[in-house]
Amino acid sequence: MELRGVDELMDLLRAGRGVRAPGDRVDLLAHSLQTAALLRRGRPADKELQIAGLTHDVGRLLRPGDGTGHTGPGAHAVRTLLGDRVAGLVRLHRTATAADGPLAEDALALRQAHESAHVPGLDAGVLDDWRTLLELVAARHARLGAVD
Ligand SMILES: [Fe+2]
Repeated sequence: MELRGVDELMDLLRAGRGVRAPGDRVDLLAHSLQTAALLRRGRPADKELQIAGLTHDVGRLLRPGDGTGHTGPGAHAVRTLLGDRVAGLVRLHRTATAADGPLAEDALALRQAHESAHVPGLDAGVLDDWRTLLELVAARHARLGAVD
């Protein structure tokens, strides 16, 4: 499945409310918001990395119950809308190592944020806080795509 617009993506992220990965103490929406917030704090200039943090687990919502096989579907889902870099980061978020090529450093930052973003009760804002940035990244990618 490919996401075709920001509204569709936000609906999918919103569907993570109340959905918990096995053993997790926060639901997928809170986990996604916390991951994005940690990256915004640590890497304020890298908007695509923050968006990768927000969207890194959409594959879990597309493949419920599949703990390990969700990274490929997640990357595929966001590629058309958000571009190859965001998709690559989503694909690497569980297994990133220092040897993952040009994305390695950023993928490791995403992996670390994803591993830390399980804090019950931590207020990481709301999904609508990210709409403008999602639209910006999607629009930039659409423009770049049109040039190719
Ligand atoms: Fe995650």
